[in-house]
Order: sequence, then structure tokens, then C-alpha cells
Amino acid sequence: MALTWTHKDRGEIRVHENLEELSIDLVDYIAEISEASIKEHGAFCIVLSGGSLISFMGKLIEPPYDKIVDWAKWYVFWADERVVAKSHDDSNYKLAKDNLLSKVNVFPRHICSINDTVSVEEAATEYEFAIRQMVRTRTVAASDNSDSPRFDLILLGMGSDGHVASLFPNHPALEVKDDWVTFLTDSPKPPPERITFTLPVINSAANVVVVATGESKANAMHLAIDDLPLPETSLSLPARLVHPSNGNLIWFMDKPAGSKLDRFKFSE
Ligand code: 6PG
Repeated sequence: MALTWTHKDRGEIRVHENLEELSIDLVDYIAEISEASIKEHGAFCIVLSGGSLISFMGKLIEPPYDKIVDWAKWYVFWADERVVAKSHDDSNYKLAKDNLLSKVNVFPRHICSINDTVSVEEAATEYEFAIRQMVRTRTVAASDNSDSPRFDLILLGMGSDGHVASLFPNHPALEVKDDWVTFLTDSPKPPPERITFTLPVINSAANVVVVATGESKANAMHLAIDDLPLPETSLSLPARLVHPSNGNLIWFMDKPAGSKLDRFKFSE
């Protein structure tokens, strides 16, 4: 049984017994938000990330989800992408395509991935332009209170350094406010060239989920969620800056990742 609670301003926390339980809960949640979004505005705009997140979504290609999810209404985006060829093993697009998107009936024209034949700067500009067109035609909703898209669901992983998307600790990309997509040529984690959603876009989503597992994430999880004496630690812990202004935030983790949370320690 998962241990769940809601923190007064850090969202809902779900600490799962094991990865199987986490994976079932995550796909149930995705299917639920998919259905609600399609009812509300006729489409489901979902944003993926790389890393182990995609493997936790694996059950979506199995019964009953493969049949109950309305794949034709899905529009797929990435919170960040490594600027490499789409056929390269480092590509987040390839990871999602091989393990999920090629196995369900999402229309290829609904998959909004980067142009892998241009420079990193051009890839960021083109990707933002494509999203702006989709906001203009109302496929992607617009935020009511900021100049940002309002994605139905943004799924993020988290590194042990607390990075989310390709927003790394103390990196200038964290402070970009006027662009929806920015680029890096010096990512601390290889490959160095990446594009990433900026914080205003992440924080304008209707639902944001952070998934992190394993003991190596425990300290970052504690710094991202627990009440801390030093608020200025934020720029060194990007996950702490995930704070949807008018949306829901849920943290999915296993026990090792949750082991340093104040609440979890006290409940043991
Ligand atoms: C990358 C990765 C990275 C990943 C996190 C969490 O672009 O380098 O995609 O951002 O999402 O490090 O990864 P794990 O869940 O696999 O630990």
C-alpha cells in the first residue's frame, strides 16, 4: 500500500511499496487525466521526459489501458530533448517511440518532436514555434494567467542532483522567463546539447508529475519537498522550483527515494 499525503505547498506525495505498484498507480493516473482532458477540450496534451519514466509507463500498452485510452486524441511533446539524431540511442524521442508510441495508435502527426537536422538553437526556436502554432489553433490550451501553454500533463523525472527536464542546478537556463523553450550547449550530464522547457511552461501546466526512484534520489527528494530553513537553496535544486501556479503537482516515488522525507521517516 502506498503512503500518500498532501504537503501544504509542495503537492501530493505518493510513496510506493515497490516499482510495480508505482507503475500501476502512474498509468492509472495518466489514463484518468487523459479521459478528463479529452472530455474537457477534446484532446490530451501530454509531455514526456527521458530516463526511467518511460519504463514506468510500459503498462499503457497492455490491457486494459491499450483499449480504454483514446490514443487518437493524444498529442505528445517532450519537456526536454537531447539534440542528437532521432535514431540515436540518446534520443528521448527514440526511447518513447520504441517503448510506447510505436505500440499504440497515437497519430504520427500528433507527435511534436524536435527537428534533429538543425543546430541546437534552431531546434529550440522551431520547437517553440510549433507549440505556439498549436496554442494559436487551440489544440494546446493557453494559460489564463501567463503567456504560456497549459499542457494537460507534464511528466518529469528527477536526477540525483535535483535536475528536472534539462534544467540543471545553478544553470542560467533556470532563469529564462520569456521563452517557452531554451537550449543548452553545456549540459553537465552528457550529451551537452539539449533543448528544454523553461520553468514558466512547466509551472503553467494543469498537472505536473515528478517520478523518481532509488536511494540515490532520496536527498534531492528531501530538498525538493520538505520544509527547509534556507529558501535560497532553490536554484541549486531545480525540482524545488516546480510549483504549478494553477495546477496539481504529484510526486511518485518508491520507498528508497522517499526514505529521507520528514513525514516518511516519522511514519516508519
Ligand atoms: C537526461 C535524462 C534525465 C533523467 C533523470 C532521471 O536527459 O539526461 O533523461 O534528465 O530524466 O536523470 O532519470 P532516471 O529516472 O532514469 O534516474
